[in-house]
Amino acid sequence: MLVTWGIMEKQRTAIVNLKNYKESTGKNIENFLGSLNSVHTDEKVRIIMAINPIDLKSARKYSKFEVFSQTVDPVPKGSFTGKIPMESLSEIGVNGSLINHSENRIEPQKIESIIQMSRTYSLETVLCVESPEEASRYASLKPNFMAYEPPSLIGGNISVTTAEPSIISDVVSVCRTHGVKVLVGAGVKTGEDARRSVELGAEGVLIASGIVKSDEPSNALEAIIHGLI
Ligand code: G3P
Repeated sequence: MLVTWGIMEKQRTAIVNLKNYKESTGKNIENFLGSLNSVHTDEKVRIIMAINPIDLKSARKYSKFEVFSQTVDPVPKGSFTGKIPMESLSEIGVNGSLINHSENRIEPQKIESIIQMSRTYSLETVLCVESPEEASRYASLKPNFMAYEPPSLIGGNISVTTAEPSIISDVVSVCRTHGVKVLVGAGVKTGEDARRSVELGAEGVLIASGIVKSDEPSNALEAIIHGLI
């Protein structure tokens, strides 16, 4: 019998955070994103590139994947010097934004305003948190995704899925009550790390150096995709 992937199956998500790494920004962004375009994917896994605001327009041009911003501000267009209005992201085809990344933390009030305002502009929010307590504080705001990333493991070689399985389970159970999808990140590198994230109840991963710093970024992303399905 032919078994096809049905609507009942859960879609997984992999967000690649390009940060401000030399290899993936500025004059290198075309090559970097171009190399990832060879990655085969289908509807089972949603692939998103998280891009610094300066490179968003280039990313839209050079990537076949969805593009999110790494940050956004809860302001309309107007006299807001230096801010990133949501409407400006929507206008250039950006579908969402990371917020409160541990390298760019923001005030609780600002988190709340961004999540509320994002609905007006149909922008998705990926709220980064550093602990189950923080997840619990914000879950009722219902961001589209809660991304759990312990700062001490970010950029390292020990995956959060190996080091903190029970904390991931705690974050998942807090978020599940509010229907919020969970991503995990920090030290995620391999297909096995991705597979483990799903086993622990997450919908997918938020990953940076495992792709950007890899000698073969497209192979590294393929491995993550295979681990998620
Ligand atoms: O946003 C993802 C990031 O903070 C995790 O970094 O290098 O450990 O995958 P990395």
